[in-house]
This record gives sequence, structure tokens and C-alpha cells, in this order.
Amino acid sequence: MRLRHRTGAVLFAIAAVTLNASFAYPAAKLKDKKVASKPNAAKVYGANCAGCHGAHGEGKSGPQLAGKHLKASTVEAIVSKGKPPKMPAFGGKLKGSELKALAGYVSSMKAK
Ligand code: HEC
Repeated sequence: MRLRHRTGAVLFAIAAVTLNASFAYPAAKLKDKKVASKPNAAKVYGANCAGCHGAHGEGKSGPQLAGKHLKASTVEAIVSKGKPPKMPAFGGKLKGSELKALAGYVSSMKAK
């Protein structure tokens, strides 16, 4: 009877470890997926903005953005509607989540 009890405890422990391992893996995978589905602001910036504002927001044909302390809401509005005459509107090109991520990214750019 005593031995049986102990065997039961050991089996329970093994089951717990196995279950834990099999649950931990999908959880980690899910987390990765979440990160991947979040827009990569640096990538969006590089593909759409760097050509005119510089890879680090240092300015080129467009004005410098880094170190300007632009508010994220300001950046979002400008990027979405454009700023005449030369700043194009991206409202129809970028998704709302991309605009938001981009606005946060640009507003926190630091001058080098
Ligand atoms: C074709 C070149 C071009 C592209 C591409 C471009 N911009 Fe601009 N941007 C400009 C110009 C030029 C201005 C200045 C507009 C003016 O004042 O007439 C400007 C202005 C801005 C301003 C306002 C700056 C200030 O000090 O008020 C922000 C913010 C901005 N751009 C962000 C972006 C972001 C973010 C992207 C990428 C989605 C982007 N721009 C893409 C040319 C560009």
C-alpha cells in the first residue's frame, strides 16, 4: 500500500513535468507570433521615410526629425494627411497600427 502511494506520487510528478513541457512550448510560440504581428516601426520608417528624412531622421530632402521632440499624435496626423507641398500623405498606404507604431518611433528618435 505504501509503495503504491509512492509510485502514484512519482507518476504524478512525471505527468506534471511532461504536461508542463508540452504547454510551455506552444506558449512560447504564441508569444513569438504576437511580436511578429506587431508592425516593425523601424522597417516601416526605412521603407517609407528614410529616403527623404534620412535613415536616422537626420534629414535629407525632408527636414530632420530626430531630436525634434515631435509629439506622437502630431507625427501621426502629419504622416496620415501629409504636409504640403512636399511631404506625401500615407493615410491610404499604411495601416492604422503601422501609423501608430511609426509615430511613436519617430517621436522618440534622438539626434546623434
Ligand atoms: C518625398 C519625400 C518625403 C517622404 C517619403 C516623407 N517625407 Fe516627411 N516631409 C517631407 C518634407 C519635404 C517635409 C516638410 C514639409 C513642409 O514643411 O513643407 C516633411 C515633413 C515631415 C514632418 C513634419 C516635420 C516638422 O518638423 O514639422 C514629419 C513628422 C514627417 N515629415 C514625417 C515623415 C514620416 C514618418 C515619413 C514616412 C512615413 C515621411 N515623413 C515621408 C518629405 C518627405
